Amino acid sequence: MTEAIARIYRRFAEVEARDRSPVYAEIAAHVAGDADILGFLAGLPAEKWQPNLLFGAVQYLTGPVPGLREFRARFAAHTDEIRAAMLARTTQTNEPARCATLLPALAALPQPLALLEVGASAGLCLQPDRYGYDFGQVRIPGELVLPCRANDVVPLPARVPEVVWRAGLDLNPLDVRDPGDCAWLEALIWPGEEARLPRLRTALEIARRDPPPVHRGDLRSDFAALAAEAPRDATLVVFHTAVLIYLREPADRSAFAETVAASGAVWLANESPRSIPGVAAEHDAVLARDGFVLARDGEPIAWTDPHGTWIEWL
Ligand SMILES: C[S@@+](CC[C@H](N)C(=O)[O-])C[C@H]1O[C@@H](n2cnc3c(N)ncnc32)[C@H](O)[C@@H]1O
Repeated sequence: MTEAIARIYRRFAEVEARDRSPVYAEIAAHVAGDADILGFLAGLPAEKWQPNLLFGAVQYLTGPVPGLREFRARFAAHTDEIRAAMLARTTQTNEPARCATLLPALAALPQPLALLEVGASAGLCLQPDRYGYDFGQVRIPGELVLPCRANDVVPLPARVPEVVWRAGLDLNPLDVRDPGDCAWLEALIWPGEEARLPRLRTALEIARRDPPPVHRGDLRSDFAALAAEAPRDATLVVFHTAVLIYLREPADRSAFAETVAASGAVWLANESPRSIPGVAAEHDAVLARDGFVLARDGEPIAWTDPHGTWIEWL
């Protein structure tokens, strides 16, 4: 079992963290060969083995991790608390900058909009109308301006969409007014990506004034009931970003896509292409690239940066 866990950490070091976070890459490579830490992880359920969860728990309890030496010392000093935090929490990174890559698609729809986000975490992507944007060619002012590089063919809007209703659904909604939940979101940001921190804090501040409601529920079973609450005189948009990967069974993803289609809503999926039903099977060329695909009603319309910093319209 520890060999399986070591493989996860080696892959994380060599692929996921290599360019984004040299600190996490070094720590993950170390964990892959550390019998004590591997034994600790083997004592947890398999869904708790993720590097992001272990590292998030250490940062949550002890603050930003500057390097391997500190990680090892803190792990040894706080093993039991780390275990408890890993059992209590899940990885729920909420990246408001993803709104920049959703904005062109949202603004192109008949207004006003009713937004329903599944896998909403704390709901920071449910407030695209409360942020400003800087696409270079087009700037929309706001309290928090999200910079995003756009290729020439992105239909850039001059203003934010009009949102008359918003609701989120999540297995475990995070509360923007709960200091523990906010600290957890901060702890999920990787060393080397600290620039995301002020953006997260400001987005949380904006949300705290009028928190987007995020309901506890499973997108596989609770979506239709929530969609039925949307007002009829607005365009209902069901969207999700970085969520379908959490559904292990392809059949669950397909069933969700069918439920969305039956609801009559516009469906925006901003995900790794392999996890969007239909896209993986029908657009092989698309799979050769890194990044997320933004698909409208199952048809790819753009490539997007998983962290929202660029968009390439197809
Ligand atoms: C990586 S976070 C992404 C949050 C947000 N969409 C964003 O892009 O910033 C994924 C979220 O999906 C939620 N999630 C995973 N499986 C779910 C399910 N079956 N039903 C509802 N939410 C789910 C998780 O709890 C988590 O909050």
